[in-house]
Amino acid sequence: MAENKLKVLAIDDKPDNLTVLKAVVGDAFPGAAVFTTTDGRQGLELALARDPDVILLDIVMPQMDGYEVCQRLKADARLKLIPVVFLTATKNKESRIKALEAGGDGFLTKPLEEAELTAQIRAMAKIKAANTAQFMKMERLEVLVSERTRALEQELEERKAAQAEREKLMTAIDQAGEIILITDAEGNIEYANPAFEKVTGYSRAEVLGKTPRVLKSGKQDAAFYGSLWGDISSGKTWERRMVNKRKDGTFYTEVSTISPVLDAAGRIVNYVAVKRDITEQLRLENQFLQSQKMEAVGVLAGGVAHDFNNILTAIKAYAGFIRNDLPPEAPMRADAGEILTAADRAGTLTRQLLAFSRRQILAPRVVDMNKIVGDMTKMLSRVIGEDIKIGTELEPAPCLALVDPGQLEQVVLNLAVNARDAMPKGGKLTLQTAILAGDAGLSAAHPDLPRGPLVCLKVRDTGTGMTGEVKARIFEPFYTTKEQGKGTGLGLSTVFGIVKQSGGEVTVSSEPAKGATFSIYLPLAENTVQDIRANKDGQAAAKTGSETVLLVEDDESLRRLGARILKSSGYTVLAAASGAEALTVLEDHGKPVDLLVTDVVMPGMTGRDLALEIARRKQAGRTLYMSGYTDDAIVKHGVLEPGIAFIYKPFTVEALALKLREVLDGPADQAKA
Ligand SMILES: Nc1ncnc2c1ncn2[C@@H]1O[C@H](COP(=O)(O)OP(=O)(O)OP(=O)(O)O)[C@@H](O)[C@H]1O
Ligand SMILES: [Mg+2]
Repeated sequence: MAENKLKVLAIDDKPDNLTVLKAVVGDAFPGAAVFTTTDGRQGLELALARDPDVILLDIVMPQMDGYEVCQRLKADARLKLIPVVFLTATKNKESRIKALEAGGDGFLTKPLEEAELTAQIRAMAKIKAANTAQFMKMERLEVLVSERTRALEQELEERKAAQAEREKLMTAIDQAGEIILITDAEGNIEYANPAFEKVTGYSRAEVLGKTPRVLKSGKQDAAFYGSLWGDISSGKTWERRMVNKRKDGTFYTEVSTISPVLDAAGRIVNYVAVKRDITEQLRLENQFLQSQKMEAVGVLAGGVAHDFNNILTAIKAYAGFIRNDLPPEAPMRADAGEILTAADRAGTLTRQLLAFSRRQILAPRVVDMNKIVGDMTKMLSRVIGEDIKIGTELEPAPCLALVDPGQLEQVVLNLAVNARDAMPKGGKLTLQTAILAGDAGLSAAHPDLPRGPLVCLKVRDTGTGMTGEVKARIFEPFYTTKEQGKGTGLGLSTVFGIVKQSGGEVTVSSEPAKGATFSIYLPLAENTVQDIRANKDGQAAAKTGSETVLLVEDDESLRRLGARILKSSGYTVLAAASGAEALTVLEDHGKPVDLLVTDVVMPGMTGRDLALEIARRKQAGRTLYMSGYTDDAIVKHGVLEPGIAFIYKPFTVEALALKLREVLDGPADQAKA
């Protein structure tokens, strides 16, 4: 600071002293500005307004003494830069100490010596300049520091946001249902998420540093992996379905999308794979397709079997007539016998088809599975031969189920015969029964299974077992792996149909060379349903009668056949081709008939409607339905309503004759309309 710009502030309560000071400073520093005041408070204001280079301060002043003025100056960040020189008349040591303690920078004793004063002022001005420079520097530094700090804060927030985002992404990846796998450019695993651990059974630690080859199932060939690597290493994203192997050795199917990750220079640094386990989805889809296929085949088979039944009924009956009309020694008798045998075989086939398509007519009653199995073992041991041992593991409590006992026996027989065929070198067949509480796991795997407690019958063998491919098709009609003539492929179809129609499920578990276990589940029945079967003592009953029978059948050849059987058995027969015609015939007849024998499925009025109408008019005592086909008019889902008399087509002459007697001689409430 140039001397001519020197600024001095003098504070003294004696104006004379100020005048002297002003003169001395003016002389020593020409051009210097000297501000003066007699009041300490005003002195502070002047210091602030003028920013002097030095303050000359008297100690003893009335309003505010010099110590206090100094203390206040030194308490201010800016004002404390101004050096303060105390002026005092006393040589008192204490006042000097006090002055220094108050923050004073110099001390002059009055009367002032001119040379000393000017020297002090000059020195103080230098200190002030130095202080100010220092202060400015500090201030600049402070600005700089605060700017830096601010910049850092900002940066810090960015980092925090980035960190939060990273955490969010990591949480998402950690909790994603999809498998996420990151490898380095060589394919070594660097990251695997929990979904990976869950699906594959490997822990992250077990696979880090390894390649995804640990999952290799052998189900894809080298070319498959070649194209995968070809695609991703050339920068393309690859997406395919593939089968991999879990740690426990089981397979799973996944949809896999693998993409290369590039750095700024376009080099591949990582690969990221996102995979979805679709094993369960495929299983459900497959199950659905399979049941749809079975349904469609069932409809077809059922339709064919229905028409076949009518034809077979005629063939059987007429062949029977021919044979019965021929003398015992006639060579044609044997031929007619052959026709009957062939027709029987065809009848069995159609019945199996109807069973498969769940259109068989069942007569269910509550049976104890244990008893059926127990009763059958002797017969089974004859069927399966000596090389195979039969064992039973029966539930101690009765295993009650509502099924057609004859059909259940058929089921067990078919399964046992299959087991026999699977054990050509002998083995063991085990029949096991159990009662199961409704099990969530079981019903999840088999959604059609009824809820609640179940009766389970397992038929287990130690035979050849099956591959997955065979297992998938065994219930299809005509699917057989047996050589021509050995099997028709209808055994399990029949089992399937009977079990399904009875409200149950059949499952199989088998592996090649490990035998097979067929499990049949049926709802556990309460022992309340009565045995609705008519008494079986009618076996030796007469086959002829003299009652009047109205026969209604739309198929002409069957109508003629029926009429012939009935007439030859001694009955008076009225015949009609439709419901409407039947009502007219009855009107003309003028009195009620003893029995209405009617087909169920007819164009126009159904057999059921006709029977109900005739019953309403009280024109027939009893009704016998004939059908080869389940129809809801008389049977619900193929299960006969109680109190309804029914004959299954195709029937033989004998069967019809017997049935007529059974119906006419039995209680009327077992042959309702
Ligand atoms: N216990 C079993 N062990 C191994 N394979 C079996 C077993 N049961 C059935 N199979 C397989 O299922 C196929 C179908 O059986 P299914 O009973 O329907 O027909 P089939 O026995 O071949 O002929 P059919 O029973 O009409 O005489 C068999 O050919 C066989 O391949
Ligand atoms: Mg079979």
